Amino acid sequence: MKKNHAHNSGDDMAGFVHATGSLVKDFRVGDRVAAYHRSGHPHGSFAEYAVAPAHMTFLIPDILSFEEAATIPLAANTAALALYIDLKVPLPFTQPIQAEEVEKRREPLLIYGVTSACGAFAAKFARLSGIQPIIGVAGRAEEFGKTLADYVVDYRQGEDALVASVEAILEKEGLPAKLPKIFDAISENGSLEATLRLIDPKAGAVSTLLPPKLFAKDKEAYQYPEDVTAINTAAPKLFDVHKDFGYVWSRYLTVLLREQRLIGHPFEVVPGGLHGVLRGLRKLYDGRASAVKYVYRIEETGSLGLVRLEEDGPQAAAVSEAIAEFPFSVATSE
Ligand SMILES: NC(=O)c1ccc[n+]([C@@H]2O[C@H](COP(=O)([O-])OP(=O)(O)OC[C@H]3O[C@@H](n4cnc5c(N)ncnc54)[C@H](OP(=O)(O)O)[C@@H]3O)[C@@H](O)[C@H]2O)c1
Repeated sequence: MKKNHAHNSGDDMAGFVHATGSLVKDFRVGDRVAAYHRSGHPHGSFAEYAVAPAHMTFLIPDILSFEEAATIPLAANTAALALYIDLKVPLPFTQPIQAEEVEKRREPLLIYGVTSACGAFAAKFARLSGIQPIIGVAGRAEEFGKTLADYVVDYRQGEDALVASVEAILEKEGLPAKLPKIFDAISENGSLEATLRLIDPKAGAVSTLLPPKLFAKDKEAYQYPEDVTAINTAAPKLFDVHKDFGYVWSRYLTVLLREQRLIGHPFEVVPGGLHGVLRGLRKLYDGRASAVKYVYRIEETGSLGLVRLEEDGPQAAAVSEAIAEFPFSVATSE
C-alpha cells in the first residue's frame, strides 16, 4: 500500500445490509451483519455506507450489539487464519470425541499478546479446538488475560524473566522445554526475540503479524532455525488464496455467535462518530490501548461531508505527523 495514499481505512463494520450484488445469495436487505472490508480498497467502513465482499460477511444474532460485533471481523479472521491455516491447529469442528484422542492432542500454544484483539480471539478459538495449555503473554490487562489463557506471563518483566517463566510452566506441565507452536500477535518490542528462544528449533511453527525483518531489534541478524516454519500471517490472503477458508470461517462465526460460544472484544465507543476516529488512532499509536477496541457510531458524526481533523494548532500537526507514519492514511471523505 502506498504511503499517504488517501483512502478510507476502516475495515471492520457492523450494520444492516442495505443492498446486495446480483450474485449474492447468502444475505438479504435488512439482515444484521458484520464484515471485514478488504484493506486498502475503496468503500471502507469509516462511512455511513460501506462495501464488503459476501464471503467475509457474517450474520449476527439479535442479542449481539453492532458495537460488539464491529470488534470481531478483522481480528477474529486474522486469528483464525494464523491458527488454522498457518499454524495448523486442529479445527474446533474436527474435535476428537474419545478422551484418549483429546489427551494425544495435548500440546501447548503460546500466544504472545493474548490481550490484544488478535491474540484474544486466537485464545478463544484455541480453547474451542481443545488446545491445552494456552500460555498467554500480557501486561496491563492481566486479569482479562486470565479469562483467556491457562497461564499468563507478564511481558513487562523483561525477556529473560519471561522466557524463564514460560520454561517453568512447561516443566510444571511435564511438557518439552521448547514450544511446538507460537502465535506472536505483537511481533515487535521484544516479542520476536523471546519467541525465537522458546520455539522448538527442530519442528516448531511461528506465526507473526508483522514481518520480523522490519520489526526485530536486530533486523539483519534475526533468523529462525532452518527447521522452524515461520509464517507472517497476512489477513489480505482471505481475499485471494484463502478465500474459501474465509467463507467457511465467516459462516462458522455466525454459528458461534448465535450459540453464544464466542463473544467480541472489550470495546469503548469513542464519541463523535467519524470525528472521533483520529482520537482512537492516536491512542492506538501511543500504545494506550489495553485490551480494547475503539468503536465509532457513524450516526454520531452529525452532518455529512468532510470530516475535519479534531485538533487544531501544534497538536493537529503532531497528529498529522503520526498519521503519516502509519502504513495507511485516513481519508477525510469518500
Ligand atoms: N498481519 C495481519 O494481517 C494483521 C491483521 C490484524 C492486525 N495486525 C497487526 O497485529 C498487531 C496486533 O493488532 P491488534 O489489533 O490485535 O492489537 P491491539 O488489540 O491494539 O493490541 C493492544 C494490546 O497489545 C498488548 N501489548 C502491547 N505491547 C505488548 C508487548 N510488548 N507484549 C505483549 N503484549 C503487548 C497490550 O497488552 P496489555 O494491555 O496486557 O498490556 C494491549 O492489550 C498490530 O501490529 C496490527 O497492526 C496484523
